[in-house]
Amino acid sequence: MTRHTPRFIQTHRSDSEEERAAAIAGLQRTPAEASPKYFYDRLGSHLFDAITELPEYYPTRTEAAIFAARGGEMAACVGRGSTFVDLGAGNCAKAARLLPLLDASRYVAVDISADYLQEALRALQREHPALDIVGVGMDFSQSPALPPGVLTPGERAVFFYPGSSIGNFTPSQACAFLAGVRVQAAGGGLLVGVDLVKPVAALEAAYDDALGVTAAFNLNLLRNMNRAIGTDFDPTQWRHLALFDRAQSRIEMHLEARRALIVRWPGGERAFAAGERLHTENSYKYTVESFAALLSKAGFATSRCWTSADNAFAVYWAQA
Ligand code: AVJ
Repeated sequence: MTRHTPRFIQTHRSDSEEERAAAIAGLQRTPAEASPKYFYDRLGSHLFDAITELPEYYPTRTEAAIFAARGGEMAACVGRGSTFVDLGAGNCAKAARLLPLLDASRYVAVDISADYLQEALRALQREHPALDIVGVGMDFSQSPALPPGVLTPGERAVFFYPGSSIGNFTPSQACAFLAGVRVQAAGGGLLVGVDLVKPVAALEAAYDDALGVTAAFNLNLLRNMNRAIGTDFDPTQWRHLALFDRAQSRIEMHLEARRALIVRWPGGERAFAAGERLHTENSYKYTVESFAALLSKAGFATSRCWTSADNAFAVYWAQA
């Protein structure tokens, strides 16, 4: 048996000048905002994994139950021998459970948290010594276009975007993102997980758990920004907030200044009044129909949809 070692391609540098400029522009806006990509340094990836174990955070386990029950049907849609492209692979646990069913020829794992991804891929390669594994350390929040050479022309690519991470985009950004996936997946398709609208209490609890793990995850963004862009955020001065906006059908996460304070960085500063907020994340919730409409607007042809018994979460197969 051939023993491969995972190839790794790194395109993202969180401390580059463009990244800094974009992050500082967000801090200077009113209301101030920060990209949710700043959640995911190594610690943030671990905190996210802890979130997925919380009783209040239903998406991960609900989606896993759909994969477990319907994996065979999904594999039939995906077809054998394709290249499985995992967007936001993280610890690669979801793909690891599906790969044995899919009989994929290549696994391309993409994540902004490169160190974390590399560790996960080394472990995965030990379980699948013959699988051709490629890791890509990349920020795909602007575009899902893979670096040149990762996919070869004629290769049948199937994209995997689980966990409802698509919810971080506004619907119009999501449409553009999905269209960008579709061009790369021509002849293949997309397997995507989507969180569904449900009563507000369940949604808000999922983003504001009793143990405060989500609060730590949100506050960790401040530490990561301090490292990446040189701000001097003090996490003890900020409070975690999670609110469902019914009109926009999205959970918003914010950090709220506990008192008036000033955040400084090399070359600038921003004053925050007591109670003023930094908007860190949107997590849009769809209906089965509204997401199907988005897929077709993005140019995907036929789609299949599997929902959990409680209609909390949906997984779609969309043919590119
Ligand atoms: C990884 C984007 C799917 O929106 O539910 C979890 C991130 N934020 N708790 C989500 C998250 C707060 C998560 N996604």
